[in-house]
Amino acid sequence: MHPIGPVNALYPMPTTLVGATVKASPNFLAVAHVGILNHGTPQYLSIGLSKTHYSNGGIHENRTFSICMPSEDLMVETDYCGIMTGRKTDKAALFDVFYGQLETAPMIRQCPVNMELRLHDVLDFPPHDVFIGELVETYADDSVLTNGKVDVSRLRPLLFDMASVKYWRLGPAVGACWNAGKSLKRK
Ligand SMILES: Cc1cc2nc3c(=O)[nH]c(=O)nc-3n(C[C@H](O)[C@H](O)[C@H](O)COP(=O)(O)O)c2cc1C
Repeated sequence: MHPIGPVNALYPMPTTLVGATVKASPNFLAVAHVGILNHGTPQYLSIGLSKTHYSNGGIHENRTFSICMPSEDLMVETDYCGIMTGRKTDKAALFDVFYGQLETAPMIRQCPVNMELRLHDVLDFPPHDVFIGELVETYADDSVLTNGKVDVSRLRPLLFDMASVKYWRLGPAVGACWNAGKSLKRK
């Protein structure tokens, strides 16, 4: 084993589109640094956003945001939202925008799964705001549901890898969780 420095090796991560209302208009940016902080209800999720981004001000102001899950089919639009800033470009014009319970968390009909969150807390790191949101509601298109649950094989999430700087796709399932390890249990 060779040390390769303090390299974050947690990739791939899903690429998401985070929605916020900024200056009374919807804006979306690509975000791969998302976190799952617990499992349960309430459910808390985090996003790490550079303080240089246009979106941060809107999340601070309205205390809401969305996390939208594009499929592979939306790679070009998603990447565009990670290149362009809402300061200069109306990125929301690319999408059919809708709102749920929260009136300032814009979501995207072209994304098969959308989550709206209420801001719970902000961790103030020098270069980044880590916004922690409480999940209020999740909206899913019928086309990605199997028995009422989001089916990743149907969602076909757009995976992001920092090392290769490429988008990747999911492969097939390899085993059952909380089950595969049972074969090593002593009889
Ligand atoms: C695939 C991808 C993932 C990204 N992930 C993040 C991220 O996790 N955090 C972040 O601060 N910026 C991330 N970015 C950069 C922002 O999406 C980008 O700077 C965007 O233009 C900011 O938009 P805004 O100024 O309208 O808020 C990512 C960009 C790409 C292409």
